[in-house]
Amino acid sequence: MKSFFFAVFLLSTLISLPATAQRSTIRSGEIWPDDTGVHINAHGGGVLRYGDTWYWFGEHKSEHTSDALVGVTCYSSKDLVNWHNCGVALSVTDERGHDIERGCILERPKVIYNPVTKKFCMWFHLELKGRGYGAARYGVAVAERPEGPYRFLYSQRADAGTWPVEFGAQELAVADTLNEANYKEWWTPSWRKAVGQGLILKHDFGEGQMSRDMTLFVDDDGKAYHIFSSEENLTLHIAELTNDYLHHTGRYTRVAPAGHNEAPAIFKHNGTYWMITSGCTGWAPNEARMFSAPSVWGPWTQHPNPCRGPKADLTFGGQSTFVITLEEGKYIFMADIWRPRHPIDARYIWLPIGFENNKPIIRWQDEWNF
Ligand code: DGJ
Repeated sequence: MKSFFFAVFLLSTLISLPATAQRSTIRSGEIWPDDTGVHINAHGGGVLRYGDTWYWFGEHKSEHTSDALVGVTCYSSKDLVNWHNCGVALSVTDERGHDIERGCILERPKVIYNPVTKKFCMWFHLELKGRGYGAARYGVAVAERPEGPYRFLYSQRADAGTWPVEFGAQELAVADTLNEANYKEWWTPSWRKAVGQGLILKHDFGEGQMSRDMTLFVDDDGKAYHIFSSEENLTLHIAELTNDYLHHTGRYTRVAPAGHNEAPAIFKHNGTYWMITSGCTGWAPNEARMFSAPSVWGPWTQHPNPCRGPKADLTFGGQSTFVITLEEGKYIFMADIWRPRHPIDARYIWLPIGFENNKPIIRWQDEWNF
């Protein structure tokens, strides 16, 4: 009898305990449990503030594959530390041949809110099922509520039949002379120059420009931009979005042609646009890069690696994905520590961005709070 009452007491204690204790600090690289006690599954993600709530969107990763078996997940929080699992925001489908068929590659989802249409607009990198990284498309989905459900709209390559804004008559004349047959060998100085002059742009002009690693950015004037790795991941493109944030307008610019940048994350500080990227080494970490510009349209200037501390030359073992703006002057750098053999166990790096000599600096901290 005694043991029965003890069992009832134990059970009632367990039921009344919260699933996980409230956390008060950010601990990069460690397991980050959600409100159900499970490690947050929102990789390559971004964070949206809507009202007094933060929404974290990311790729759901499985035990043994990075292919999309579930879709885009969403978590909500009031303090950016304790996260409620809102479930799947955009679900992949079992419809055969659908753009987001289960088993496609769906990476780096980002969501922005359009105050005019009152819609939540999700953009992501999409690779069609069974085609590796060959499709190189972006996908767009929309929802009435931040946590979804998101309705898939379309996927495509970028800016077909359009040259970047900086290509005037002279640049077009040069691009016209480029012949791929003369540049079979990559990484030579003449090949780099030709890429800068539009070698790959020209190749993809009809079909549309490749669109892989990506982020979104909404400027103070409400204009939004899609920033993505294009031209075989050699050149970043910044494409202006239509007022409803659901399409490209056709105006775009290029950043660091032939510079081989992935994982763009962008923020604006005191009127200057800062972009942090990675190099291209698959799931393996490499040294972060940083660029700044007085306008989204450039000119973009490259700066040294902003990371400081252990493994600063490898972005602390991670790869950039997003910068959260808390307020002017207060930013959080988000990155992923990938685990390609156990993707669900990938970890998060969240670190505050400081400034030294007016340039962003990201210093490693084992544990910190706001
Ligand atoms: C690096 C990219 O940043 C990731 O999003 C992913 O596409 C991997 N490459 C795949 O190797």
